[in-house]
Amino acid sequence: MIRIVEVGPRDGLQNEPVPIPTEAKVAFVDALSEIGAADIEVSAFVSPKWVPQLWDAKEVFEQIKRNEDITYSALVPNERGLERAMEAKADKIAVFTAASEGFSGKNTNCSIDTSFERIDPVITRAQAMNLPVRGYVSTAFWCPYEGRIAPEKAADVIERLADYGVTDVSVGDTIGKASPDEVKALLDIVLKRVPAERIAMHFHDTYGRAPQNVVASWEYGIEIYDACTGGIGGCPYAPGASGNVATGTVVRTLRAVGADVRIDFEALESARQRIIEYLCNAGAENALAQGEE
Ligand code: HMG
Ligand code: MG
Repeated sequence: MIRIVEVGPRDGLQNEPVPIPTEAKVAFVDALSEIGAADIEVSAFVSPKWVPQLWDAKEVFEQIKRNEDITYSALVPNERGLERAMEAKADKIAVFTAASEGFSGKNTNCSIDTSFERIDPVITRAQAMNLPVRGYVSTAFWCPYEGRIAPEKAADVIERLADYGVTDVSVGDTIGKASPDEVKALLDIVLKRVPAERIAMHFHDTYGRAPQNVVASWEYGIEIYDACTGGIGGCPYAPGASGNVATGTVVRTLRAVGADVRIDFEALESARQRIIEYLCNAGAENALAQGEE
């Protein structure tokens, strides 16, 4: 069965230019708790200097209504982030690195090797407390600073992270530029080293190829897909990146090829409308405040 990791409250909101009040984030997560996703990435315990929008990760965790069947997770860059995530009682954390030095430097101010030195104690401490950890590898296909990333290079980083015993490694098409052939070329190498059940795919949809990439991944036996209700967002340190592929698109695409995906479309539509209307109104108010028509 397909597992949807709903990343809207984190990846979807992290790059929004208008400050979003905590209660709107909480309402979005609560609406997402109704859609049937197995995991919701609620926020990120990263530096608020780097991602100001998610300064209130702790408050959001404190105020959401939790459903015991859902894993409420958080992105964590270092031990400080782990401590904050534990205080907020996150059910799971996600550590992150990249397949390109250029993106690693821009996103976390360090090399790929240093990112592993940072996340090593995070994973060790979390696992000692039975806190599940997933891992992300960004720019696995294309980097906004270095261009195409060789599949062998991306596969090395994916395998290195998998070897830490993370539950799954989420393979990121950070700027939404991958083609189905590029997805297959990477999975050809990765799946010889890491079993398909420990690989997740994280597509952004800049060029409209995410649905084809989901199908290509499904044909390789991948069952975990990150998706974002409303298709909003993107990474502030990946210029040109658009939002994640929309959750509704992933579900429709996978159902069309015969996959078993248990998502409630009515609840999904309600969560989508809630956040899109909120962002449209907030954007309009911001434009008015700046004197734009
Ligand atoms: P740095 O500036 O090199 O390190 O940042 P620092 O230790 O000097 O920290 C800077 C300041 O942040 C300090 O505050 C720290 O205390 C504070 P100051 O002393 O100046 O007042 N700080 C923290 N505060 C709260 N929580 C923390 C924390 N850590 C430090 N955990 C660092 C290094 C990694 C912290 C920074 O670069 C960072 O936070 N980067 C995160 C960037 C980010 O969140 N990007 C988006 C998420 S990744 C993504 O979207 C891709 C993904 O979706 C997959 C894909 O699409 O490919 C996952
Ligand atoms: Mg992303």
